[in-house]
Amino acid sequence: MSGDPAAHETGAGRPISLSEAYAVQSPDDNRALYAKWADTYESDFAVPRRYIYPRAAAELLCERFSGSGPVLDAGCGTGLVGEYLRDLGVAVVDGIDISVEMLAKARAKTAADGSPVYHKTFEVDLTGPVDIVGDTYSGIISTGTFTHGHVGPDGIAELLRIARPGACCVIGVNASIFEPDGFKDRFERHATEGAINGLEVHFRQVYEGADSSDPDQMAQIAVFAVG
Ligand SMILES: C[S@@+](CC[C@H](N)C(=O)[O-])C[C@H]1O[C@@H](n2cnc3c(N)ncnc32)[C@H](O)[C@@H]1O
Repeated sequence: MSGDPAAHETGAGRPISLSEAYAVQSPDDNRALYAKWADTYESDFAVPRRYIYPRAAAELLCERFSGSGPVLDAGCGTGLVGEYLRDLGVAVVDGIDISVEMLAKARAKTAADGSPVYHKTFEVDLTGPVDIVGDTYSGIISTGTFTHGHVGPDGIAELLRIARPGACCVIGVNASIFEPDGFKDRFERHATEGAINGLEVHFRQVYEGADSSDPDQMAQIAVFAVG
């Protein structure tokens, strides 16, 4: 999401502004926001804003991911990342999200071969322990979830726990909070401690034509392998 003040109509016809989306603070705030937004998230936000962040992250993962194991989309929302991953040839994609309404949209999506985009989906709050056994995923990807008032850097440790050794991870963070909220330090600490290897951070547009001087229109995408 960017700092654009444009309003987005909800299914109930009430507009959601991005300042409202950025004002969330708690998991319950997020559940309430995305319950209202799920119906119109793509038609009134992703499509008109030319939201290219999911595609950019999926491409970064697929440039490195060679395995056939499952990939987890953390904060999958309506399933935009999953669609790109399946189009790019990833066979098994699971999705987790706190919002049952967003998960319902993701579950309804089908890939080019007619199969569901997501193999499995789970309702998960990434601000706490994740009920998935360790060493499960060969790849983990996330866009739009590590942002204002959503999930902070503490959420990264659980993703590392459920990733297999050597798993390819592509974790996008809103550029305006990447350093101030401690994401940069957290990734560097995980690297220093050997929990992750080969850390790269890619500065990418969230929207096609985004103003790179506005950090809310940009993402810092951390790419690494789990140690
Ligand atoms: C801006 S949307 C991004 C969705 C999708 N990844 C995309 O790029 O279109 C943010 C997503 O994070 C989810 N979310 C917010 N807080 C969360 C939490 N604590 N745990 C898991 N998911 C959360 C929301 O429900 C929403 O689907």
